[in-house]
Amino acid sequence: MGCESEKNNSILSKLATNEEHGENSPYFDGWKAYDSDPFHPLKNPNGVIQMGLAENQLCFDLIEDWIKRNPKASICTTEGNKSFKAIANFQDYHGLPEFRRAIAKFMEKTRGGRVSFDPDRVVMAGGATGANETIIFCLADPGDAFLVPSPYYPAFNRDLRWRTGVQLIPIHCESSNNFKITAQAVKEAYENAQKSNIKVKGLILTNPSNPLGTTLDRDTLKSLLNFTNQHNIHLVCDEIYAATVFDTPQFVSIAEILDHNEMNCCNKDLVHIVYSLSKDMGLPGFRIGIVYSFNDAVVNCARKMSSFGLVSTQTQHFLAAMLSDEKFVANFLAESARRLDKRHKHFTHGLEEVGIKCLKSNAGLFCWMDLRPLLRESTFDSEMSLWRVIINDVKLNVSPGSSFDCQEPGFFRVCFANMDDETVDIALMRIWRFVGVKRSGDHETTMMEKKHQWKKNNLRLSFSKRMYDESVLSPLSSPIPHSPLVR
Ligand SMILES: Cc1ncc(COP(=O)(O)O)c(C=O)c1O
Repeated sequence: MGCESEKNNSILSKLATNEEHGENSPYFDGWKAYDSDPFHPLKNPNGVIQMGLAENQLCFDLIEDWIKRNPKASICTTEGNKSFKAIANFQDYHGLPEFRRAIAKFMEKTRGGRVSFDPDRVVMAGGATGANETIIFCLADPGDAFLVPSPYYPAFNRDLRWRTGVQLIPIHCESSNNFKITAQAVKEAYENAQKSNIKVKGLILTNPSNPLGTTLDRDTLKSLLNFTNQHNIHLVCDEIYAATVFDTPQFVSIAEILDHNEMNCCNKDLVHIVYSLSKDMGLPGFRIGIVYSFNDAVVNCARKMSSFGLVSTQTQHFLAAMLSDEKFVANFLAESARRLDKRHKHFTHGLEEVGIKCLKSNAGLFCWMDLRPLLRESTFDSEMSLWRVIINDVKLNVSPGSSFDCQEPGFFRVCFANMDDETVDIALMRIWRFVGVKRSGDHETTMMEKKHQWKKNNLRLSFSKRMYDESVLSPLSSPIPHSPLVR
């Protein structure tokens, strides 16, 4: 293998052989472990349950039902195939006007109807993945940097850095204030970059946050906008989870702050939104990414770049019809939020029963689970050992905080919306067993008593101490293969 990579280093480009893709992270390793032993209720009931994938699978029935009622929306049905030739032939990189109009309207709806979006500013990309890379290509040169609050979405390392040559500088957020972004942390990250002679071109936010599942409040947004304006740097807001907000406080888009002129003086040319239908509609396979910039030059440049990641016209045509159905969209968004809320409550209450806390959240497809009480020591080595036990023995693929660049060991992101009710319950059962608690007849034991028991028995992991020790002692024994292709 070593020999092969040396050989490749000499015949392939620097881009092809550099390590910036980030695929050697446990975030991706977890997926590989799942792929080699995937859970199936009948065919493989002891397999790994995938809880590392932020997919929204709770509302497919609503979409399927709409499709049945609207066969004309597809050019591949008897009812719709009159449009086949025109749609299959269309190749303008501006996209179908009806698609851009429908997306702009949908973006308004997912922001509570409190803002309006201009269809002429909607630029297509291959998912938010492509949109994020496109915006960085438009704004920064190799070697420039973007500040990013951590913990952050692990694939940002690939999407924002790998091919652009841009650096990411974390703004460290801490558990002591529920991972809120503080002005002090932003200032420190910026000043440290300057001391190292790194040119900061902007700040990228994920709102609602992946992995925290929290939304940014209006004051924080305004203060970040103030900061980026003062330093004449860009503010990019990845709002891919806009409509996954299932509880108060309501989502505030950066567009809302701009639209309502809430700032005394603000240079709109420095503000850009990244969006996608992967999470809010649960359609990651459709690869619908959007760059929405308030800056005309960026819109023009991103549009030219979009030639490399256009959305197929077949998909545009279909979505234009579906998203223009206002009644359907209103019902879908309300029902999706309701189902996410229900699932989130069910899952987090299940965890609470065995004393596992999550960061209080109101959005997203995951929760930020605090397993610090289960660590042997407060180190990232311990976090990895615990992660190995969870994946190899408990058979759940969750993602360790270190892969999100979290500075404190012991946090894990666990996704809850990519499976059915039965699988969630099996996952909860495994967790209950893992912490040595049987659910039935054990209701009276409070969380504090449970923690006390763990401490008293020196038995943080009561189910399989031997396995845990083996994992700790031989980190290389992990059956997870390294570096195969990442999906
Ligand atoms: C914050 C964030 N941005 C971008 C993406 C990529 O989304 P897409 O599937 O639209 O490329 C994800 C996916 O998980 C994400 O969480």
